[in-house]
This record gives sequence, C-alpha cells and structure tokens, in this order.
Amino acid sequence: MNTFRYLFPILAALSLPAWAASAPDDLTEHLAACNVCHGARGEGATGSEYYPHLAGKPAGYLLRQLRAFRDGGRNYPQMGWLMRNMDDAYLQAIAEHFAALPPRTRVPDAPVRTVQPALAERARALIEHGDAARGLPACAACHGADLAGLEPAVPALVGLPEEYLVAQLGGWRTGVRRAQQPDCMADIARKLEPAEIRALAGWLSAQEHTEPHRPAAAGSLLPPLACAGLPHAQQVQP
Ligand code: HEC
Ligand code: HEC
Repeated sequence: MNTFRYLFPILAALSLPAWAASAPDDLTEHLAACNVCHGARGEGATGSEYYPHLAGKPAGYLLRQLRAFRDGGRNYPQMGWLMRNMDDAYLQAIAEHFAALPPRTRVPDAPVRTVQPALAERARALIEHGDAARGLPACAACHGADLAGLEPAVPALVGLPEEYLVAQLGGWRTGVRRAQQPDCMADIARKLEPAEIRALAGWLSAQEHTEPHRPAAAGSLLPPLACAGLPHAQQVQP
C-alpha cells in the first residue's frame, strides 16, 4: 500500500512546530523540514513516485506555488499546513533559495511504465507541435524547446515523476489546481483526452535529463497566447 510509504514523511511534517511569520536568520536550517519530501537540496526524493523537485525552478513560479498552497489555489494538505503561517516575504525568500540551487538532473525511475509507441508519438507531437484544430499550442512554445522552463514563471516539464504530472493535469481539469488568470493550463488540460494526459506524463517522465539545464531567459521565448499574466505574442505592441 502506498499509504505506508507516504506515512512517515507526512507524520514528520505534521510534528513540526508552527513556523515564524517572517523569514528567520537561518533559512537553510528551517528548510530542513522540506528535505524529507523534496530532497536535501530540493532535488526531489530519490525513487519518488510523486514528490516534485524544487531546485533550479524559476523563482517566480515557485513563489506562485507557495502562495497557492497557502491561499487555496493548490490543494495538498501537508503543503497547505506548512505554508499557513508564512508571509509573502518569507515565501519569496524560500522561492529564491530553491531557484538558486543547481537544477534537477534525473535518470528515469525504474521501471518506467511503457508508453505504447502510438501514444508516445501522439505525446511528442503535442509537445513539439500542439494540435491547431483543437486550439492546443505546442507545450514547447511556453515550456522551452528543451522543456527546461522559461523565466520568470514557466516550470520545466522534465525531471518530474509520471504520477505527479498526471495529478497536476487532472487537477487543472477538475479545478483543484488553479493558476493566475488567464489560466491557460486549465484550458489546455481540459482539451486533452485522459489517454493523452497519460501518454504525455509517461513520455515526459521517461526522458533522461542528465544535463542540468536552467530555464530559458525571460523574453527569449514569447508564449503564443495569454497565460498567467506573462508577456505573450498576441499582445498589441504600443
Ligand atoms: C509531507 C511531504 C512534504 C513536505 C514536508 C514538503 N512538501 Fe512541498 N510538496 C509535497 C507534495 C506532495 C507536493 C505536490 C503537491 C501537489 O500535488 O499539488 C509538493 C509541492 C511543492 C511545491 C510545488 C512544486 C511545483 O513544481 O509546482 C513547492 C514549491 C513546495 N512543495 C515547497 C515546499 C517547501 C518550501 C517545503 C518546506 C517548508 C515543503 N514543500 C515541504 C510534499 C511535501
Ligand atoms: C501558453 C503557455 C503554455 C503552454 C502552451 C503550455 N503550458 Fe504548461 N504551464 C504554463 C505555465 C505558465 C505554467 C505555470 C502555471 C502555474 O503558475 O501554476 C505551466 C505549468 C505546467 C505544469 C505544472 C508543472 C509542475 O511542476 O507542477 C504542467 C505539468 C504543464 N504545464 C504541462 C503542459 C503540457 C503537457 C503542455 C502541452 C500539452 C503545456 N503545459 C503547454 C504555460 C504553458
């Protein structure tokens, strides 16, 4: 039962004392509480089937997530509990701390669920080209050609566990996860078939990611449509 595997870290997190409301002097010491689920340097737990890495993600993206757990835009009880007393200045310090750590590299967890060749091809086509007939832009148009993300607020799609990816796209479909408006990921997730979500998650999580790529520089790529308040290609230039 998966429950037992998750029980220890959850109990460890719940037994933490309430956190101070603003950034303490020794942030690293306080962030030791995150290690049990996110790894000693935010690299994600080894062999984890669910816990995402934090290291090297854009600071703006991380800050938005920490606020969402605190304010209800994302719903995961342990994360909400940990963030409940933290003010924005503290969350900003946490986001900057993890963003500055070396980006996650990852060899796929074994065994990787096999994605049928036809579905793997479908996933790759969506990632590289999208599906214009359904109004789906290429994932790479926002997440970067190497899928390592884009500063300041688009995360990498590589280096994440399959079940985590399935849960996030499912969360957007059901409204459990909400990003800043216009929430393009909610539109995209709702247009994807469940089988396509499985295929995308399987394909993405099976990619070896042995070079520590940093997210693309802000402005080096212009998302094709309005998304989460980021600059985009449809904006009328003044
Ligand atoms: C009990 C395990 C646990 C602990 C302890 C924990 N986290 Fe998490 N964290 C998770 C899980 C699980 C998720 C994914 C939740 C979801 O599915 O939305 C997550 C998600 C996140 C995310 C979003 C990642 C992304 O790519 O969107 C951030 C940021 C984060 N945690 C930061 C922290 C920080 C900072 C701490 C310490 C103060 C911490 N977490 C402690 C389990 C934990
Ligand atoms: C128009 C830009 C855009 C496109 C196209 C796009 N994304 Fe995103 N994506 C974003 C943004 C912005 C976020 C961060 C949202 C937030 O703040 O929570 C995001 C977040 C995500 C996340 C959450 C990652 C994490 O660590 O929790 C996943 C998974 C994801 N996108 C998958 C995809 C897939 C798969 C496609 C293609 C089918 C895609 N995205 C296409 C902009 C885009």
